[in-house]
Amino acid sequence: MKNKKQQIILSGIQPTGELHLGNYLGALRNWVSLQDQYQCYFVLATYHSISGNYQPADKAKQILSLTIDYLAAGLDPKKCVIFNQTDVPETTELCWIFNTLTPLAELTRMTQFKDKAGKQDKNINMGLLDYPVLQAADILIYRANLVPVGKDQVQHVEITRSIAKWFNQKYGVEYFPIPEAKLTPTAKIMSLADPEHKMSKSSGPKHYIALNDSPETIKQKIAKAVTGSGQEKEIPAGGQNLLDLLAEFGTTEEIDYFKKQAQTKNIKYGELKQTLAEAIAQFFEPYRQKRRELENDLNYVRKVLEEGAAQARPVAQKTIKEVKEIIGVNIDKIKKI
Ligand code: ADP
Ligand code: TRP
Repeated sequence: MKNKKQQIILSGIQPTGELHLGNYLGALRNWVSLQDQYQCYFVLATYHSISGNYQPADKAKQILSLTIDYLAAGLDPKKCVIFNQTDVPETTELCWIFNTLTPLAELTRMTQFKDKAGKQDKNINMGLLDYPVLQAADILIYRANLVPVGKDQVQHVEITRSIAKWFNQKYGVEYFPIPEAKLTPTAKIMSLADPEHKMSKSSGPKHYIALNDSPETIKQKIAKAVTGSGQEKEIPAGGQNLLDLLAEFGTTEEIDYFKKQAQTKNIKYGELKQTLAEAIAQFFEPYRQKRRELENDLNYVRKVLEEGAAQARPVAQKTIKEVKEIIGVNIDKIKKI
């Protein structure tokens, strides 16, 4: 059994816009604690992100903004490798090799593919279908053992495991480790405006609280959150979502106070909303401060990505070299034909 420092972690987020509380609780917060315990790689999944509809003029800003998010939330480039997927072209090479092992039917059944194809029905491109294979390449090129993600990504980790097994079987080697999803302890955070669905960037700002929202915006968004009357027998999804958020950001006294209200089936949502808005605004004050500093120092942010790529790329190059040997395309050792 490998000890933790020998185990490799890889995870990533697409640069597609501002991060929200779901991303923070479901991914980033967890990464920040993992960086002290494991050897961690955190990728900006830029090539994944161009499979969605996007404006080329926005992308570079989104890349820098996500890097700032990583740093402002507490990732430390001295403890983990932060890098942009586009700086490691070996990943797309490995993706192609994996493409030749992956049955089409495995990709067409992916939930996220079906969801996204439904949402962007004028742009159902090959990238959208191939998305999990590129994700498998991200993970396996660093021979990662653990992949910390939210529930919605588990299916992609499952197919990564299959791809690793298909590769090892086809080529008769034990080359790729079979990685495991490391689920974040936080349940899914739901949309404020539509609490039956998850909080997501793609639904629009009234559905989420961005990490960078001002205290005033946080207050306004939470004030408008869909709840119930407070007297229902079963706490409705929207009310539960606010209680879940308070459990993350409130003080013990605040949490106990509203827990008691919930037990007596008399939740005063107005009061809960005010307490929660203040708790969230306060929690992210240091984040907003750090973000402002980094926004004024883009050269440093670029340097983080450059140095991250300089660490990630040699590892990826070594894997690709070995993989080319394994799949039989290296001509160096042939003496005669
Ligand atoms: P979005 O749906 O907002 O585009 P992404 O799909 O880019 O978010 O997700 C990035 C990371 O954040 C993933 O690890 C995902 O599991 C996590 N995540 C996204 N939304 C939520 C949520 N509402 N609750 C918990 N985790 C989430
Ligand atoms: N597909 C992930 C998402 O949408 C992002 C991602 C890309 C990722 N490569 C990864 C996550 C590798 C974990 C591991 O959130």
